[in-house]
Amino acid sequence: MELRAWFGDITRLEVDAVVNAANETLLGGGGVDGAIHRAAGPELLEACRTLGGCATGDAKVTDGYRLPARWVVHTVGPIWGGGGRGEADLLRRCYRRCLELADGLGARTVAFPAVSTGVYGYPRRAAAEIAVTTLRTTPTSIDIATLVAFDTETYELYRALLDGASRP
Ligand code: APR
Repeated sequence: MELRAWFGDITRLEVDAVVNAANETLLGGGGVDGAIHRAAGPELLEACRTLGGCATGDAKVTDGYRLPARWVVHTVGPIWGGGGRGEADLLRRCYRRCLELADGLGARTVAFPAVSTGVYGYPRRAAAEIAVTTLRTTPTSIDIATLVAFDTETYELYRALLDGASRP
């Protein structure tokens, strides 16, 4: 699988599946969740209402409705609590589970926001390292995973990690 970094609004991306950083209710929030719901339209919330929420570290799928993406994979990242509450393991599980679900749907391209690094307060560098390492080590038939940054710090972190990983 090829890993790419991209700067911008994830709702604009023409990929098979976009990942959403939601909360356990899956009933809407701000940040990337708000942007995805606005772009997808009200049918997305209706679909989310039928899912019964989602545990932290897990993910659930809906259609993408008015998004360019065919599917949305809603995941719930950990709330940062200092690092001693299993946050890293939970964040790893999010990336792994989203990739597995997207793969199971038959997606060939998938885009991830920087899960947990907004409202949930996960340190950006540590989260970027987990994103890159987990996606690189999870077996998959997906062709391209795009790590979407919405701030320059995250974008530079992704760029550095991806360059470093491709050096001999
Ligand atoms: N495209 C891509 N990335 C975005 C976008 C967007 N349109 N909008 C925000 N982001 C980025 C933020 O800059 C951040 O790096 O998404 C990352 C995740 O931030 P949040 O959306 O705050 O998600 P998270 O930290 O996982 O917190 C989840 O926020 O919206 C609520 O209901 C949600 O309670 C849950 C919590």
